[in-house]
Amino acid sequence: MDWTRKDLIDIESLSPSEIQTLLNCAQHFKKVCLSPRKHAPLLQGYTVANFFVEPSTRTRTSFELAAKHLGATVVNLSAESSSLKKGETLKDTVLNLQALQTDVLVMRHSASGAPQFVAERVRSAVLNGGDGAHEHPTQGFLDALTILDKKGSFKGVRVTILGDILYSRVARSNIWLLTKMGALVTLCGPPTLVPMSFEKMGCKVSHKVEDAIAEADFVNLLRIQHERQRKSAFPSLGEYTSFFGLTQERVRLMKPDATIMHPGPINRGVEIDSEVADCGRSVILDQVTNGLAVRMAALYLVTGHSPSVLKDALETMGFDLS
Ligand code: CP
Repeated sequence: MDWTRKDLIDIESLSPSEIQTLLNCAQHFKKVCLSPRKHAPLLQGYTVANFFVEPSTRTRTSFELAAKHLGATVVNLSAESSSLKKGETLKDTVLNLQALQTDVLVMRHSASGAPQFVAERVRSAVLNGGDGAHEHPTQGFLDALTILDKKGSFKGVRVTILGDILYSRVARSNIWLLTKMGALVTLCGPPTLVPMSFEKMGCKVSHKVEDAIAEADFVNLLRIQHERQRKSAFPSLGEYTSFFGLTQERVRLMKPDATIMHPGPINRGVEIDSEVADCGRSVILDQVTNGLAVRMAALYLVTGHSPSVLKDALETMGFDLS
């Protein structure tokens, strides 16, 4: 068990051992989240600032709940409500948050590299809640925890990521984590959104949806990220859906025990049929629950707490981790 990092900016730079450490902690915290008590005040006295310059439902809310479950004080800042609107720079904004004695800065930004830029300039720990098309590390971890819940291991597990890969930070974090841990990743979508160059990341690239979903143990769907696309990557949304949407007919091509994932927000009727999103094979809302556990683990580790004493600490508080 090891973790010596001040920040969590990406998965690309993490070792398999660091990945396993965070996942082990998240498995313990999941028991806390699912217990009636939920509250394990290991971060009492700490202050967490949620600084989201792009919209978010799941990430921002779950970081706030995670920090509160750990007993930390939480403040929330959005682009709209901050003095960024009055021309204050990103650097000045975060230096002011630091002057308010924040211990952790959770940030989402449209610019790839913004959390790294900030992490190099503040003493506070920085947790990347998604930066441009670069990475969304806690999403990668919560997706991985969902796979572990089902399979118990990553070795040889086949994961197909279907959709807009090119503009997706979720895809990149998933690819780095899953390939480092021994899963077999296939990327699928139109060639304009899934260029062959992704093979360099250790994945298979396929432009034939029927083949890509038939081999998968997990199909992880991604929405079309219009906010990052500079030009349309396909003629129309209808055309995208007819060629690459996960319809009920296509679900019948999947293995009988294959699982459907989506990081959210879902666009019903575009990348996924509404009935498919709600069917028994879908673990979309389990992913959201796992996000809470992963974010508790991330907050615990970047504040310098030891992974090796976590189980004992939680059991001493009366949580049943068996
Ligand atoms: N999956 C995800 O990042 O969702 P939000 O944009 O709602 O945080």
